[in-house]
Amino acid sequence: MSTQLDYVQSYAEMVRAYLAAYPEDEAVARAVGGAFEHFGILEHSLLRQFGLKDDSRVVDVGCGAGRLTAQLTRYPGLRYLGLDVVPELLDYNRRKAARPDFRLELCQDNRIPLGENGADFVTFFSVFTHLLHEESYFYLEQCRRVLAPGGRVIFSFFEFAVDQQWSVFEGNVDWVRKRSYLGHINVFIHADDLRLWARRLGFEVVAMERGDAPAVVVTSASAGGKVAPGQHALGQSFCVLEKPGG
Ligand SMILES: C[S@@+](CC[C@H](N)C(=O)[O-])C[C@H]1O[C@@H](n2cnc3c(N)ncnc32)[C@H](O)[C@@H]1O
Repeated sequence: MSTQLDYVQSYAEMVRAYLAAYPEDEAVARAVGGAFEHFGILEHSLLRQFGLKDDSRVVDVGCGAGRLTAQLTRYPGLRYLGLDVVPELLDYNRRKAARPDFRLELCQDNRIPLGENGADFVTFFSVFTHLLHEESYFYLEQCRRVLAPGGRVIFSFFEFAVDQQWSVFEGNVDWVRKRSYLGHINVFIHADDLRLWARRLGFEVVAMERGDAPAVVVTSASAGGKVAPGQHALGQSFCVLEKPGG
């Protein structure tokens, strides 16, 4: 285990520790935050709610073991690029998705390997929660380039304004108190700061929702019968940005 915080290294170490301790399915589910199918359905529903079509071009940064990937494989016309820093998670994702046309690639230096206007959606689910602000901002700069006009970024984040998210922060404080860094860092961002980022980067803010608000619309089509249709809270807060000109 790490003796100090190193974001990418500590994430990979955590994944390897789970793989050593649990059967593979359970290990990777734990590594990406658990409730594999439930959260995959909420993530897919959120994309639908904000305009995903069956033939959209989606970039899923920090795709992990594929909670979202697994939901998208049923759309033959959908084009998908999943990026992650942990090879073991990508391997698992590739095997489960079984879609040779889906690109699942190791992510180098926080870069999105796409040219201008190459995507309709870029998602970061539970990813900015583990990055320095500078790294998240750098990713958003690239979203401005790779998104087509009218394309959208959807990402989740932790904020102090939501009581339920405090336990995550208190867990981090406890590591510092005990000088024992047992997992990966969890980073908080203020929603007002995200609005400032969006303005500087030239994005329009389409939605900014607290993690405890029932703001994710699940339909029978997006849930496939596995989650009750209706409005659900994501747990993490989320933000939807749009590149103008669509
Ligand atoms: C909590 S998991 C979420 C995975 C996936 N988005 C989901 O919702 O199931 C966070 C993921 O971000 C990945 N990650 C961490 N740092 C990253 C970085 N700098 N660039 C891309 N992915 C990163 C981790 O390896 C992990 O798979």
